[in-house]
Amino acid sequence: MITPAALKPFLPTALEKTDFTGLGEKYAGKVRDVYTQKEKKRAILIATDRQSAFDIQWCSIPLKGQALNQLSAWWFEHVKDVMPNHVIAVPDPNAMVVKDLKMLRVEIVVRGYLTGSTGTSAWVNYNKGVRNFCGNLLPEGMVKNQKFAAPIITPTTKGEEDELIDPKGIVDHGFATKQQWEEIADRAFALFKKGQEIAAKRGLILVDTKYEMGYDEQGTLTIADEVHTPDSSRYWVAATYEERHARKEEPESLDKEFFRLWLRSQGFEYGGKRPAITDDVRVMLASKYLDLFERMTGEPFVIPADTRVAERIERNLQPYLL
Ligand SMILES: Nc1ncnc2c1ncn2[C@@H]1O[C@H](COP(=O)(O)OP(=O)(O)OP(=O)(O)O)[C@@H](O)[C@H]1O
Ligand SMILES: [Mg+2]
Repeated sequence: MITPAALKPFLPTALEKTDFTGLGEKYAGKVRDVYTQKEKKRAILIATDRQSAFDIQWCSIPLKGQALNQLSAWWFEHVKDVMPNHVIAVPDPNAMVVKDLKMLRVEIVVRGYLTGSTGTSAWVNYNKGVRNFCGNLLPEGMVKNQKFAAPIITPTTKGEEDELIDPKGIVDHGFATKQQWEEIADRAFALFKKGQEIAAKRGLILVDTKYEMGYDEQGTLTIADEVHTPDSSRYWVAATYEERHARKEEPESLDKEFFRLWLRSQGFEYGGKRPAITDDVRVMLASKYLDLFERMTGEPFVIPADTRVAERIERNLQPYLL
């Protein structure tokens, strides 16, 4: 068990952003800083400790970037027999060197359960009366958090705003050919199946997840970005799901949902006053991420010996300077 006392020293050095020179062209995503090295056909993904929710950047969560990067690396390794991935090296707990891929312009969301709370989620749409969801015909009479007869794919476009799209739309927009889409969907289902099997062994339900894929130089379909992390997936505790579901209670969730729920419990609403995120809250959130890391991998999360995280990353990335 990781105690709050072990995490507190990392509060002042939590990684809000990076500014490394000589590492390539920088693009700051919501969570990762990406340094692209076109000439070397690779990119350096640095997982920062930034925490967003409801499209707002709230704070940094100490060691969250490390937990995300290491969990992603763990999962890439565990699903490598399903499809090739973009990883070249993991030279630092927060950084991954990857093949710079030609990324698909759609995100592939796979869902095992009828749930969610945003405009593109399955439950919100179903509740509004949608029965043809991204080309998936859903039966009448389903309830929130119910398991689908079989997992479904609900792709979204990768742009300013995520928009739902169906396979026909993907082909019509030229995001992929019909044949390419068939391979993409087939691999996404296979990844999800393997992910659910592995999670089940650890007492967890992999509820849904988002994959990003791209093509490498040889034109091989490759999984990129992050895989089965708590930022890209929903996880529920398996042991309590049935009982809570029968009582119409929300499942015990181990993903980013706990932060959304905490914000709501503080009275936060869209456009409303923002609760202050105290250091105690940041530490509480950190321990949630580390808890999921340990449950999922069955391995202890290794707290760095030195709190100077940014300096360490810079040192470890020396061999990858341009
Ligand atoms: N192998 C790869 N090649 C090229 N780009 C990649 C690769 N893996 C991930 N990416 C991109 O790197 C970025 C990762 O950053 P992050 O996840 O923080 O961004 P995001 O906020 O989710 O996405 P965005 O800002 O692009 O909407 C994403 O834009 C992702 O598509
Ligand atoms: Mg992302």
